[in-house]
Amino acid sequence: MERQSVVEQILSYTGYVVPTILALILIPFKLFSDYKRQSNTVGFFHPYCNAGGGGERVLWAAIRIMQKKFPEFTYYVYSGDTDATKEQILLKARQRFGIELDPTNIEFVYLKWRTLVEARHYPRLTMIFQALGGLVLALEAWYRLVPDLFIDSMGYPLALPAFRLAGSRVITYVHYPTISVDMLSLVESRQESFNNSSTIAQSNILSWLKLWYYHFFAFIYWIAGLAAQVVMVNGSWTQRHINYMWKRRDVRIVYPPCDVEAFLNIESVAESLLEDTKTVRLLSVGQIRPEKNHMLQLEVLHDVKEPLEKKGYKVELCIAGGCRNEEDQERVRMLKAEAEKMGITEQLKWQLNVPYEDLVAELSKALISIHTMHNEHFGISVVEAMAASTIILSNDSGGPKMDIVKNFEQHCVGYLSVTRDEYVETILKIVEEGREKRDEIRKYARKSLTRFGEAAFDRLWINEIGRVF
Ligand SMILES: *[C@@H]1O[C@H](CO)[C@@H](O)[C@H](O)[C@H]1NC(C)=O
Ligand SMILES: *[C@@H]1O[C@H](CO)[C@@H](O)[C@H](O)[C@H]1NC(C)=O
Ligand SMILES: *[C@@H]1O[C@H](CO)[C@@H](O)[C@H](O)[C@H]1NC(C)=O
Ligand SMILES: *[C@@H]1O[C@H](CO)[C@@H](O)[C@H](O)[C@H]1NC(C)=O
Repeated sequence: MERQSVVEQILSYTGYVVPTILALILIPFKLFSDYKRQSNTVGFFHPYCNAGGGGERVLWAAIRIMQKKFPEFTYYVYSGDTDATKEQILLKARQRFGIELDPTNIEFVYLKWRTLVEARHYPRLTMIFQALGGLVLALEAWYRLVPDLFIDSMGYPLALPAFRLAGSRVITYVHYPTISVDMLSLVESRQESFNNSSTIAQSNILSWLKLWYYHFFAFIYWIAGLAAQVVMVNGSWTQRHINYMWKRRDVRIVYPPCDVEAFLNIESVAESLLEDTKTVRLLSVGQIRPEKNHMLQLEVLHDVKEPLEKKGYKVELCIAGGCRNEEDQERVRMLKAEAEKMGITEQLKWQLNVPYEDLVAELSKALISIHTMHNEHFGISVVEAMAASTIILSNDSGGPKMDIVKNFEQHCVGYLSVTRDEYVETILKIVEEGREKRDEIRKYARKSLTRFGEAAFDRLWINEIGRVF
């Protein structure tokens, strides 16, 4: 009886203290925010805005369309690139992406503490420290400017609740989930295999702690996600993870604008090669990394060689791809040795670290573009090969399945396969089905790429933003 009343007392005590502390922090925060908030402003939280990667293309494309649709607003970009002036950053956006921005209503808010979000400072518990670093950086941003509309386009989850509390409308565009379903399930499955031996009991505890840490972080991430009023993601893969981690149903896909113009202009000679020289050209584009599964491509080449030769065709496979390091070189040597064993060296052509013009030449000759990676997040090379009029044959998973090789206006735009045999059958089918059918696939495949074009991005972005404007 007495114990319970103590508990009650403690509860009522903290029940009183916690709200007081929160109020002491939040009321001044809120008052200061209201005082600072500038109307008709949009703030993009993108500390690495001068990096020139895919994320930056989305940033500049988004600002461009918003400048056009809502010219009365002023656009601020929170940037940690303190050494680059506004002119330099805008120039780079133009040179790198061909995106022209109106300099009159865009400004940069420089952040001094960007170093806090660099992973190298946190060898342990990187995820949580980076997220906290992101919060502190967001507070610096808040101190410098509180906009009407706050858009996080780089993925600092704790910035979202900070600005929501400050009274901004909050939007996030996610390229990559900070914590993914795969991470949780990986640790969970490892935990199961650890109970195998008592000598690794220690690893068992470690693994348990790690799992607990991941779940704790997933909880924090979920809270952060609640603060966002509009959530956009860059593809189906990210959407699946965000749906799960944030338990939301309103996560919209807005594909980053892909620049495939150059590939659409490639003149394909694959059909005349097939007609004149009876050559079936296969092409594989991708870095020589293990997950790309080049071995399967060799096996498929081996298996289609005979049936095609019976029908009077020659077959060739060109493997074009980047070799980054010694490991990749070693992989190439191993693949070459395997090809030798299979007796397909003659049919195989290597184009390693090709310059762009040579890649274009290969694409123009290719009848079929073959991709064997399992669960690729997206597959920009699949999109490019499609633009260049090759017939796509990709693994039935990941981005190719969910985003790219999807029927367009009820028309087939390419093929997906799972097993070695299926790949072989599909190649034979593509060769058999004749030029007319192939041209139809090409036509709709190229048309379907408008899904990833700038016009589609602009339309969807404005649509989503419109929900809070
Ligand atoms: C989304 O972003 C991730 C991480 O940068 C990337 O791996 C993926 O390919 C992107 N998806 C699309 C559709 O561009
Ligand atoms: C169990 O542990 C042994 C050695 O510690 C290891 O070789 C074996 O693969 C483990 N088995 C499983 C199912 O994890
Ligand atoms: C570890 O335990 C789980 C469930 O407790 C069990 O399903 C699994 O087979 C075990 N693994 C090993 C290697 O003993
Ligand atoms: C292709 O995708 C399927 C289904 O996602 C997968 O089970 C299979 O292992 C993949 N095949 C290869 C060769 O990677």
